[in-house]
Amino acid sequence: MKDITVIFFCFCAFGGEFGVDSDRGNKRYFWQVSDFHFDASYSSRHGDPSKMCHEGSVSNFSQLGMFGNYLCDAPWKLVTSAMQAMKDFSPDPDFILWSGDSIPHVKDADINLEKVYINIGNVTDEIRKTFPNTSIFPVLGNHDSYPSNEMPYDINLSDYYRQILTSSHWDSLLDDNCQKQFQKGGYFSISPHFGLRIIALNTNLYSTLNTLTNHLVDPADQFQWLDGQLDDARKSKEKVFLVAHISPGFFEKIPNFPWFYEDYNKRYLDLLRKHADIITAQFYGHEHTDSFRLLYDSNSTEKPIGCLLLSPSVTPWRSTLPGVGANNPAIRLFEYDIETGIIQRYQQFYLNLTAANIDRNATWLQEYDTKEDYALDKITPYDMQHLVDSFYNIKNGIFQKYLIFNSVSQELTPACNSSCFQQNICAITKLVVDEYESCIAGSKTTSNPSSTKNPDSTTKKHHDHDNDFPKLMYYVIGAIAIVIFVIFLIIGFLCISRRRKIVPPRYAKFGSLPVN
Ligand SMILES: *[C@@H]1O[C@H](CO)[C@@H](O)[C@H](O)[C@H]1NC(C)=O
Ligand SMILES: *[C@@H]1O[C@H](CO)[C@@H](O)[C@H](O)[C@H]1NC(C)=O
Ligand SMILES: *[C@@H]1O[C@H](CO)[C@@H](O)[C@H](O)[C@H]1NC(C)=O
Ligand SMILES: *[C@@H]1O[C@H](CO)[C@@H](O)[C@H](O)[C@H]1NC(C)=O
Ligand SMILES: *[C@@H]1O[C@H](CO)[C@@H](O)[C@H](O)[C@H]1NC(C)=O
Ligand SMILES: *[C@@H]1O[C@H](CO)[C@@H](O)[C@H](O)[C@H]1NC(C)=O
Ligand SMILES: *[C@@H]1O[C@H](CO)[C@@H](O)[C@H](O)[C@H]1NC(C)=O
Ligand SMILES: *[C@@H]1O[C@H](CO)[C@@H](O)[C@H](O)[C@H]1NC(C)=O
Ligand SMILES: [Zn+2]
Repeated sequence: MKDITVIFFCFCAFGGEFGVDSDRGNKRYFWQVSDFHFDASYSSRHGDPSKMCHEGSVSNFSQLGMFGNYLCDAPWKLVTSAMQAMKDFSPDPDFILWSGDSIPHVKDADINLEKVYINIGNVTDEIRKTFPNTSIFPVLGNHDSYPSNEMPYDINLSDYYRQILTSSHWDSLLDDNCQKQFQKGGYFSISPHFGLRIIALNTNLYSTLNTLTNHLVDPADQFQWLDGQLDDARKSKEKVFLVAHISPGFFEKIPNFPWFYEDYNKRYLDLLRKHADIITAQFYGHEHTDSFRLLYDSNSTEKPIGCLLLSPSVTPWRSTLPGVGANNPAIRLFEYDIETGIIQRYQQFYLNLTAANIDRNATWLQEYDTKEDYALDKITPYDMQHLVDSFYNIKNGIFQKYLIFNSVSQELTPACNSSCFQQNICAITKLVVDEYESCIAGSKTTSNPSSTKNPDSTTKKHHDHDNDFPKLMYYVIGAIAIVIFVIFLIIGFLCISRRRKIVPPRYAKFGSLPVN
């Protein structure tokens, strides 16, 4: 009798492996930080907000902040404050993704290549110093080149990438192999641990603002390299995180504002689709706003297969583009499952810049958590599709939350009429140029967000079981195994024992044991 009790307990402990306990053991964390735009000329004493807070004739420093100003780029104090906040909230992440742009938004005439290298080097040294033992994976932003946006594609014509490694000290972040790859065009690939591959791209090569690359097929051979890397990852059964500065698709704040040249946009999306089953997450910066994009299967606009997460910036700078506002500084802490490579959630932390300047003390707070504030179970294309679907029901307030987070709670009562709503939806769900264009054109003829589509009645529902299938299968197999095991035990027990009366109470006890 004792033996059987032991068997039952062992079996239940084993059964627990399918449940909650194993999930907890797989949790890992990493940071994303983006767009510092450190401005060494920020002057909190004599800066002129109309001149990027550089020394000016107006010396009304009561208006300026020691941690920054919404009209200006980040002073050094804000750069170090953001890094310190990362250190305070999560000092020992698996790695840090740093998605580019260290250079301030100043005219090319006001800086030079030497200053660009030094400026990036300042940020590099500080992040390395703050996290001396953490893997830090950087990518270049469009402002990190000189002139701005002109990211070179031919290493025979420029030693830019080599200089970033030496003069900007990225050789203190990248190992020898990554450095070798990086010199070819600012991209590299690395496996930080078994089963995961991080591919860091230089998407500034595809930017509509890069006049050096508008006539090419495959600048710096990055597409060919990326396809090969993804094939290799597949062979090695690795899951992939992509990190880059500029995302494909369109800006959600301005209609018809594409980030990539059309050919590059198409080729990039084709590669994302081809390898969608192994790319579990994608991380971008550049927009300074908080948003995301969904990629769909080419044969159907109903099946989301990829999700691109766009992190806001550290700089609070109000864009000079019409209709684009300022933002509070932000940093993102991701939680992922080390076995599946699936992002479980992220927490966004922010600095209320107004409050920090008044208090003369930077208190970083959690702005939101995707589990609590968006009710997202995980961050998969399927979950993010549900989030977009929930935007259509304006009454539930989720779209309004998205809008507030879009400026990192800088704009607390954002106004967004039906064309603004559709502009966001089109940018989020349409990455292909002609699909986006007809989405935006279509929005001009609809007047009411809720009339454009009723998500509750669409065919989206049929995806419900796609993602749950593996989990469900575990439960079914587990349940069948338990039933068979119990039947065998009972039969065995009946065979070796004539005392039939013991069986029912034992069976009843098994039924009451906890399964989690
Ligand atoms: C200086 O700042 C104060 C406080 O914001 C404001 O009241 C005042 O008008 C400003 N003076 C000038 C000259 O801009
Ligand atoms: C940036 O780097 C330059 C060159 O090493 C150095 O002189 C300067 O003090 C650094 N600035 C900051 C803010 O660390
Ligand atoms: C980094 O690693 C070195 C050597 O292992 C150790 O001495 C040091 O304390 C570590 N620093 C931090 C901040 O963990
Ligand atoms: C750079 O020069 C090398 C050697 O001359 C050549 O093999 C390579 O194709 C050139 N790279 C580019 C991008 O033109
Ligand atoms: C899309 O359709 C084409 C042609 O019908 C087919 O070859 C391809 O496998 C389909 N792609 C997917 C992802 O289903
Ligand atoms: C930020 O601080 C200012 C000044 O204290 C306050 O008015 C504003 O509501 C705060 N914003 C948030 C998101 O808490
Ligand atoms: C800044 O605020 C923190 C709490 O957020 C407090 O512990 C600290 O003493 C403050 N520092 C100063 C200089 O006021
Ligand atoms: C929505 O707001 C924008 C900017 O405020 C305005 O230009 C546009 O005409 C408005 N559209 C509609 C349909 O009201
Ligand atoms: Zn930027």
